[in-house]
Amino acid sequence: MKPKYILALDQGTTSSRAVLFNSRCEIVSMSQRPFNQQFPQPGWVEHNPLEIWSTQSFVMENVVNKADIEWSDIEALGITNQRETTVVWDRQTSEPVYNAIVWQDRRTADYCDVLRERGLTERIREKTGLILDAYFSATKIRWILDNVPGARARAERGELCFGTVDSWLAWRLSGGRLHITDVSNASRTMLFDIHTLDWDDELLDLFDIPRSMLPEVVPTSAVYGTTDCPQVPVPIPIASLAGDQQAALFGQQCIAPFSAKTTYGTGCFIMLNTGDRPHASANNLLATVAWQLGGKTTYALEGSVFVGGSVIQWLRDGLKLFSSSADSEPLAASVEDTGGVYLVPALTGLGAPYWDPYARGTIVGITRGTTSAHITRAALEAIAFEVDDVVRAMAADTGHTSTEMRVDGGAVANSLLMQFQADLTGVRIIRPSVMESTALGAAMFAGLAVGFWHSTDEICALLKPDRTFSPEAAPALMEQRRKRWHEAVRRSRHWIE
Ligand code: G3P
Repeated sequence: MKPKYILALDQGTTSSRAVLFNSRCEIVSMSQRPFNQQFPQPGWVEHNPLEIWSTQSFVMENVVNKADIEWSDIEALGITNQRETTVVWDRQTSEPVYNAIVWQDRRTADYCDVLRERGLTERIREKTGLILDAYFSATKIRWILDNVPGARARAERGELCFGTVDSWLAWRLSGGRLHITDVSNASRTMLFDIHTLDWDDELLDLFDIPRSMLPEVVPTSAVYGTTDCPQVPVPIPIASLAGDQQAALFGQQCIAPFSAKTTYGTGCFIMLNTGDRPHASANNLLATVAWQLGGKTTYALEGSVFVGGSVIQWLRDGLKLFSSSADSEPLAASVEDTGGVYLVPALTGLGAPYWDPYARGTIVGITRGTTSAHITRAALEAIAFEVDDVVRAMAADTGHTSTEMRVDGGAVANSLLMQFQADLTGVRIIRPSVMESTALGAAMFAGLAVGFWHSTDEICALLKPDRTFSPEAAPALMEQRRKRWHEAVRRSRHWIE
């Protein structure tokens, strides 16, 4: 029999990727294309939705050509995406009315302050599980309706569609037949009640967003329809939509309650499976929907750290300390420790568990003997400290201390960072052999929907870890270091207030 495949489309913040998997969960081919990041004003971040689509469709075609297979050999495709990023487009022409406002964009931070002063934090948290913050889609949609000439009137006449990037891609792939989003993406909009699993009228009213703009909410794994676009010559079932962090949680097989993963990407996203109920956080974490699969909804706690791997990019491109990110590991390893330097990478404020948009990057402890190696080592360690803060908040919230954590994303290739993470957090760090956890998660959801795989057990049996890092350092020493880190964080806070 001819082999069959599942195609995963992984639309991320800085690049669009496509990954083709075979039935043994092996990567058959992969393609990636970066696209433009637009920064029209300080704190603003935008993407061109047409470029998101053109790069995504390019890599999709490329991956099929590279693998030298027929389109009809693909049993289903799954979509996973940068979350919260907001696209508004015309229902008739499919033309975006404005650029996509990216999750990192802070233009609505002042408006969030106003809502906070009106005492709405708790109400929003109760319904959505989220912290009132500019990170999520609701205030971004409102901004578009208020600032793009004619947009509000058009939205009220039912002429505009809103979607996160999953919706936008499903719309384009289906030739405008599907206006859908899945529960995991919906739970990041700040318009979705994670208990009733429906858009919330009180929140729609608060943000002044017409319900007619919103996509239909669908399960994470199901056949929603088929492709109908010039780029795909045969109809292929579109069988999963999932936020990228939730897809990575699934791809990392964190299927049992209290299993956790961290993705070290531009930012760091730590997620803990909390089972069939949302877990309200008392420590500034987000309660969110992980997925809906086979009629069952699974929830997660999440800590989103805004600057993770991008601090290494900043050392590379901004400070020019090295020319390739991979050089950061030998440079950091060339010194025994940071020489007392601490670097807080609050380059776009601080996310979980601090949520301080007014914090800024800080380096403390510099002496005459400090070199680029100490600063690089401090930056790498900072990533681990940020993740550790969230892991500890999760333990405080749930009363459950994990003994292991799965990891993925570009920075996990850095063994120095992984060992320091294990030492600091005191847990086993497990690096998978299929590093593309996000794409794998999307493929698993799609494959389960069409019977390509029959159960999560069947898939998990195919996946093996690559390497485990066990804690080696003395906990007392790590506690001392943690105290110094917290002191450095304190100094970085409320800087631009
Ligand atoms: O919440 C934002 C997140 O989904 C972005 O992920 O991997 O595109 O940086 P990534």
